[in-house]
Order: sequence, then C-alpha cells, then structure tokens
Amino acid sequence: MDTILVTGGCGYIGSHTCVELLENNHNVLIIDSLINSSRDNLDKIKETVSLKGINVNHNIQLIEGDLRDKLWLENVFSDYLKADKPIKSVIHFAGLKSVYNSIKSPIEYWDSNIYSTISLLSAMQKYHCFTLIFSSSACVYKPKGLNLLKETDEIRPETPYGKTKLYIEELLGDLFTCENNWRIASLRYFNPIGSHELGLLPEKSKGKSSNLFPTIIKTIKGEQEKLTIFGNDWSTHDGTCVRDFIHVMDLAEAHIAALNYLAANKTQNISINIGTGKGTSVLEIIKKFQEIRGIRFPYVFAKRRIGDEPFLVADNNLALELLDWFPKRTIEDMCIDYVINK
Ligand SMILES: NC(=O)c1ccc[n+]([C@@H]2O[C@H](COP(=O)([O-])OP(=O)(O)OC[C@H]3O[C@@H](n4cnc5c(N)ncnc54)[C@H](O)[C@@H]3O)[C@@H](O)[C@H]2O)c1
Repeated sequence: MDTILVTGGCGYIGSHTCVELLENNHNVLIIDSLINSSRDNLDKIKETVSLKGINVNHNIQLIEGDLRDKLWLENVFSDYLKADKPIKSVIHFAGLKSVYNSIKSPIEYWDSNIYSTISLLSAMQKYHCFTLIFSSSACVYKPKGLNLLKETDEIRPETPYGKTKLYIEELLGDLFTCENNWRIASLRYFNPIGSHELGLLPEKSKGKSSNLFPTIIKTIKGEQEKLTIFGNDWSTHDGTCVRDFIHVMDLAEAHIAALNYLAANKTQNISINIGTGKGTSVLEIIKKFQEIRGIRFPYVFAKRRIGDEPFLVADNNLALELLDWFPKRTIEDMCIDYVINK
C-alpha cells in the first residue's frame, strides 16, 4: 500500500489532517523533529480516530527527525520503498511559523524552512515521488486595502516568515518548469483556529506563541494578566485587524480534497487560497469567544505591531471551483471547538 508522508504531522494543522487521512483509509508516515510538538500527539491522533470506530494502529507511524538531514531522509524513503510501502505523496507542514519570531531570528527561519524543503524535494525526486501539498500562507500577499485577496494578486511578503513561503513557492515553480511530471498544490492558509470536535488535539506551541487563540488561552489560565490587542486605529469597521478565521477541520479536509484533485488532474503546479472568504475582526472574535464559552477575560489595546496588516481575507473562489470542498463550520463552531488545554 502506498504511503503519504506528512512532515510536521504532530503539529497543530498536521495532526488534524492526519485524522482526516486515516479516516479516508490512507497509510500515513509522520516525520517530525518535535521542535514545536510532542510524541503524545500521535496517541491523540490514534485515539481520535479510534473513537470513531476505526482501527488505525498499523496505518500510522511517526519517525522523529529533522528534514534537513538529507541522507537520513533519503534512507526513510528507501526503507519505505523496500518495505513495499512506497511514499507516493507528501503533505509538507514542517516549518517554523511565527511571523514575529522570524523578524527577530531571520537566519533560523530561512535555515529551517528553506533547507528542510530543499532536502525534502531532493529525496522526493530521487525516489520518484512527485505529488506535493505545501503549507503556504496568506502572508505571501501584498495586502490591498479592504479587498479580498486573490491568487493572481501581487505577491510581496513583508516578513522573513512570509518570504520563506514565497521562495518555496518559487522553488516549486522552477522545479515544475524543469520537470513537468510534478503535481504540486501550495495551499495558502488564512487563519486556522478551533480543534477537532472530540477535543483531544489542542493547539500547542513549545515557545511563546503570538497567535491570537493561544494568547487568549494564556490569559484565561492566568499566565498573563490581560490579552493585548495590537492596534485599534486600523482602517477597519471597529479599528482592530480583520482576519479570515477558518476551522482547522475545514482546513484539514481541504488537504484531502487537494490530494484528490491532484490525483484526478494533469500534472501542474498551482497555488490555492484556503479560507472562508469572510472577515471577522479580532475584537469581534474575542467577544464571540467570551459569549459562547461564557468566559470573561480582560483585554487592552496597544500600539500596532510590526508585520501586522489590517485586512487579510481570502477570495476562496478558486478552491470552491477546483476542489470538491467548501468550509462548513462557522465562527461559533470554531469558538465552541477550541480546546482550552490544561
Ligand atoms: N497555524 C497557522 O496559523 C498557519 C497559517 C498559515 C500557514 N501555516 C503553515 O502551516 C504549517 C503547519 O502549521 P502549524 O500551525 O501546524 O505549526 P506547528 O508548529 O504546530 O507544526 C509544525 C510541525 O513541524 C515540525 N517541524 C518544524 N521544523 C521541522 C523540521 N525541520 N523537520 C521536521 N519537523 C519540523 C514541528 O515540530 C511541528 O510539529 C507550517 O508550515 C506553517 O507555516 C500555519
């Protein structure tokens, strides 16, 4: 049976996607350095799927390691080929993801995100694995006021994190130009939040997270006194930034849809926005979360942060047109399902 390699599969989006892959009868190999996740997540993935009555023990494996170790990675591809479980497609989540840390530590971000991808692509090429879904980001766009972002819009990331995503997309373009047997989809995610409804897969970060929801949880748990909202003087309806929040399970489902799309169509290299097409302000989602969860916590407004943009919302028409997919879950679902981990 063929194997799907999920790099960074123990992380937040990766673990939710593994649940979907297993439920769709795929054989999954996770490679993860665990720099921002833990081995426990493998058990949580298995438990989540088992609770749905599916036996998964033999369909998922985790190998701990850093993708930048090229020889080691090639050996993994070789071992899976010898075991008659060839790696035929890859979903590439692994990478460092904090916009703000990338501004503080650009070398670390370029090193991790770019070298791991080069190493992965070389191993894929060597072992004739030509299907790739890459986790790109809305950060690659040059925002254009209060307009929805389309795949054809100007690309001009401002931060080192966004630049690594852009350069990987460009590398994938060069690869496809020289070898047009690849099937590549770069999914440009907007703002994933929420968790699987069974509640076993919280969003966790080992270091300090600058994402909104992990910071809300820190405030609720009393690890910080107040939640800081950066900027209330943006040109948006309530002055706070507007984002396209998408339920992480809708995002996970988009990966299955993209895999099916790539398998059913001609070889190509395509970038697709994965968002809901609807904007919600930071203040609105905080109030919604408080209302739905019945939890109050203090928040304060502070100056704008470097790297922030007032409005990042997807035009998701390409995804709706090409993929057999649409985002089903509401902002309320995202607030209900978000796990407040202990
Ligand atoms: N979460 C978001 O808001 C968001 C938005 C847009 C794009 N993305 C992208 O989606 C992907 C997944 O995001 P996430 O939120 O699940 O992040 P995450 O940090 O939870 O997961 C990433 C995983 O990759 C692993 N990893 C990192 N570097 C590695 C390496 N060199 N070798 C092997 N494993 C490595 C980490 O241990 C972690 O488990 C990332 O590429 C991120 O940039 C995330």
